Amino acid sequence: MSAQTRESQTRRLAAPDIAARKGGQPIVCLTAYTAPMAEILDEACDVLLVGDSVGMVLHGLPNTVGVTMEMMILHAQAVMRGSRKAMVVVDMPFGSYEGSPEQAYANAARMMKETGAQGVKVESGPTVPETIAFLTRRGIPVMGHIGLRPQAVLADGAFKAKGRTPEERERVIAEALQTAQAGAFSMVVEGVAESLAREVTAAAPIPTIGIGASAACDGQVLVVDDMLGLFDWTPRFVRRYADLRSDIARAALAYADDVRARRFPAAAETYFAKD
Ligand code: KIV
Repeated sequence: MSAQTRESQTRRLAAPDIAARKGGQPIVCLTAYTAPMAEILDEACDVLLVGDSVGMVLHGLPNTVGVTMEMMILHAQAVMRGSRKAMVVVDMPFGSYEGSPEQAYANAARMMKETGAQGVKVESGPTVPETIAFLTRRGIPVMGHIGLRPQAVLADGAFKAKGRTPEERERVIAEALQTAQAGAFSMVVEGVAESLAREVTAAAPIPTIGIGASAACDGQVLVVDDMLGLFDWTPRFVRRYADLRSDIARAALAYADDVRARRFPAAAETYFAKD
């Protein structure tokens, strides 16, 4: 490879770059599931998260429990093909890492090898700090996920904000410290009040990336389809930066009108045989 070719290649951000942002410039993260969307988001984002929210956002599942390794690998490969600069982190799906550290290592190593992503994300739980330590000691960069854990929706009964009682607050703070101590390079903090996000961010030596967790965090993540306005309902913590659902519906109706009135295709959109 020539020096010029090497220079023209953009180095992707990696776990140490994100870890070094603790208390510094806020980390910008969005979810991405497809190559074209990853290509559009790459410029703006430090981290593209191939979230298991893909199950709900693109596959119509009621929650993330049904998401499989194969789904995550396919979407992560697409996001890697579409992006050049952002760090790509892939969610380990429910059931792929909770069994034992060895199970987690086998699946996380497969995820890294088959996708080329720069890290994986695991949701917190009693056995998870041990697993994070097992993975990070073996060279797998891990992002933690504390507070509201979507994969625990069936155990919790609903998607519920966390830290509403003193016991729950203590548990979230303990999860944050254990996640950092185990070697994670950053962690998502989901669905907690501002005061708890502030306390966790001050206590943890690694960046916190908030979703529904206030501006007190070291960075922010949103589900891209939420912020683009692709759903008719968005949670309170989401800011809609576009209204693509209305734009798409309007475009589809305009197309349907044109087809039905034989206005589409017009001559400019038609191939004619040359005589
Ligand atoms: O799956 C996902 O999109 C996530 C974000 C909500 C952080 O985990």
